[in-house]
Amino acid sequence: MAAKRILLGITGGIAAYKSAELVRLLKKAGLEVRVVMTRGAEAFVTPLTFQALSGEPVRTSLLDPEAEAGMGHIELAKWADQVVVAPASADFLARLAQGMADDLLTTVCCATEAPIAVAPAMNQAMWKNFRTQRNMSLLAEDPQITVWGPDQGEQACGDTGPGRMLEPDALASWILADATRATVGALAGKRVVITAGPTREPIDPVRYISNHSSGKMGYALARAAADAGAQVVLVSGPVNLPVPDGVAVRPVMTAQDMLQEAERVVAEGCDIFIATAAVADYRPAACAGDKIKKTDEAMTLSLVRNPDTLATIAARKNPPFTVGFAAETTDVARYANDKMQRKKLNMIVANDVSVPGLGFNSDQNAVTVFWPSGEQAIGPDSKQAIADTLVALIAEHSNKVGNS
Ligand code: PMT
Repeated sequence: MAAKRILLGITGGIAAYKSAELVRLLKKAGLEVRVVMTRGAEAFVTPLTFQALSGEPVRTSLLDPEAEAGMGHIELAKWADQVVVAPASADFLARLAQGMADDLLTTVCCATEAPIAVAPAMNQAMWKNFRTQRNMSLLAEDPQITVWGPDQGEQACGDTGPGRMLEPDALASWILADATRATVGALAGKRVVITAGPTREPIDPVRYISNHSSGKMGYALARAAADAGAQVVLVSGPVNLPVPDGVAVRPVMTAQDMLQEAERVVAEGCDIFIATAAVADYRPAACAGDKIKKTDEAMTLSLVRNPDTLATIAARKNPPFTVGFAAETTDVARYANDKMQRKKLNMIVANDVSVPGLGFNSDQNAVTVFWPSGEQAIGPDSKQAIADTLVALIAEHSNKVGNS
């Protein structure tokens, strides 16, 4: 394993109780864990809980003469192979972004050369707040720091939205993925972001426009990329599939959500962006507040264009290696090459979805991959086998671009 010694920082937030489960999972996986708690964290969970679970004394104070005489903050900073702060409060993230060192945890973060991962946890309004987002932008530019999450959903305060800490099993799988895969595999050390599944564009509270994408192709690629050593984030529309081990998921619903979430994840660091999602090109101009009642008259829906996630990511100032997909029924090669040029992609994977049993919602596929100077046909085969070959091809070509 590349990273065996995990220094877990816990800051003040209700999600602190979940970190007890995180420590248990990491210990069970054979990692050494030491815990540093802030004063705010101690208000939610006692150090004794973490001492019992980690089997190590818990450090809480920078100015503790006894602890500093034994293992001082510098030794703690040197001991860690990986620092993980979960939950990371808005206050801690602000202090980290500014490089402050006014308590033990921020001091260790300043002193360590180990990678630092933070798992934000806060109320949705605090997460969306301009100043928090400004701090997150600063952290996104920091090569030592990775941001895991936050998740969306119901919050302890009763609000719903982004700001929940990722669940302990998701965090444990990120930490283990780092620990076990950081030095092996064709995509070792790379961050890969994959869009998958369909989007749903609401017409009213009970109806939506969507398509037949199951997410299988995208999830198979996520598994293949994680197996090749990458840190993988799936930005996933609504699907009914298990999440591959070691892969983080950011669930989205509409094309607009997908763009917003993909931009956020890519800003956190992304070497390769793969768009398998079947994104709705149009959405209803307005979503009715109440269920639309049927009448005897014909009905016309007014649609507007959705934003294009892949083209937006490819147009960034320093874009990742971008791979698009094209599902076509006629003139597959011509349309796919046209999309690659128009969206300024490094590669495009074309499926002929007119072939029965292949493409949408099937376990099988057959694709032709195009890049500016060549092409390669893969399959027919299972989507997982195709994904494995695709990942090898993407690793080879992205390395060439990276080395040129
Ligand atoms: O999910 P499965 O059931 O396994 O099926 C897999 C698949 C057939 C959906 C997949 O292999 C596939 O081909 N996905 C692309 C579908 C498509 O037709 O995309 P497109 O031609 O509309 O878009 C081209 C590219 O731009 C795609 O990479 C797409 O993700 C991206 N795009 C498109 C529109 C948009 N608003 N945003 C985008 O990011």
